[in-house]
Amino acid sequence: MKRVRTSTLLVGAAAAAVAVPLALSPIFQSSDSETAEPVNDAQEMSLGEAAPDGLVIGSAVAGGGHHHDEDYPDPFTGDAPYRELLATEFTSLSAENQMKWDHLRPDRDTYAFDDADAIVEFAERNGQVVRGHTLLWHSQNPDWLENGNFGADELRAILRDHIETVVGRYEGRIQQWDVANEIFDDNGNLRTQDNIWIRELGPEIIADAFRWAHEADPSAELYLNDYSVESVNAKSDAYYRMSQDLLADGVPLHGFSAQTHLSLQYGFPSDLEDNLRRFEELGLGTALTEVDVRMPLAEGAEPTEEQLRQQADYYLRTLEACLNLSSCGSYTVWGLPDKYSWVPVTFEGEGAATIYWDDLTTKPAYDALLEALVDAS
Ligand code: XIL
Repeated sequence: MKRVRTSTLLVGAAAAAVAVPLALSPIFQSSDSETAEPVNDAQEMSLGEAAPDGLVIGSAVAGGGHHHDEDYPDPFTGDAPYRELLATEFTSLSAENQMKWDHLRPDRDTYAFDDADAIVEFAERNGQVVRGHTLLWHSQNPDWLENGNFGADELRAILRDHIETVVGRYEGRIQQWDVANEIFDDNGNLRTQDNIWIRELGPEIIADAFRWAHEADPSAELYLNDYSVESVNAKSDAYYRMSQDLLADGVPLHGFSAQTHLSLQYGFPSDLEDNLRRFEELGLGTALTEVDVRMPLAEGAEPTEEQLRQQADYYLRTLEACLNLSSCGSYTVWGLPDKYSWVPVTFEGEGAATIYWDDLTTKPAYDALLEALVDAS
């Protein structure tokens, strides 16, 4: 069993360092500090280090989205302690926005790879894998695409070129791609209206997207990804049927992932593990790709002890589902800390959804995840 730095292993001044990586901890800033107690490597274990073999622990890399406070710097380029935390705590990174169409494609003839390149290069320097997100989606598409009135042949060529160019650029450097994101609505119907690709090109375009991605990078694991598919329900049933069909047709589909954006007010999806297991039994990989647990929170208010305890429990149960599935090799939280989270921007009256406080100290949810990872190793 791996050892971990928890509060029970700590005394005195070292306890102050429990929440932040060594490099950020004030007591270690001066090498001759009287109060500094050496903390050995095992005690410095991060989430990524604590995870059992075959499981990477990821975070979204903030940037390119909407912040609730426009005064923040771009986190990835402007917030050094945040970067340091991403590098030390996680073994996988996801582009929160930087690989979406509106980011990569300012116009039809241009690919803007700077921000995406920076993430992939950062990950490589830090020995991390990358999840690519995303290739075929109804949201965050540029206006020139949505309002371009392209004919079917042209639109198909645009998508094919995009997938070949983007997936090809990072060939061998992206572990998993969310090829198709959120293609079903909550009733389990394909988004035949709001998804431009399905509307204009028909449902068959989904199989083509997987084929093109596979040709461009045969080593990347290709995923279907969505929210509200944690439980067995109309939407996850639709994915289950589609997965069966795609596999029967020999389409290179490798996995199904649940974003796992949870809220304390809607209860925990207690059949998460069973739901994912049926995909595992199809031979697919599974992953939790965007985990966060938001809660009702008045503007400027702090979460209560009870909310934090419940949040830790929800996070823990999502991780346990993954740990109990041999198919689940990737567990990613959707950003940190709360000030960089999409939640307060998107869900009015909710917040505090991540596992870190804004000063990059950890919440009880972090401790629960770390302990579970250590126990599983
Ligand atoms: C969100 C980002 O976190 C925000 O910064 C952005 O403004 C909107 O998109 N499902 C997904 C993600 O697949 O891409 C979304 O990310 C969250 C929901």
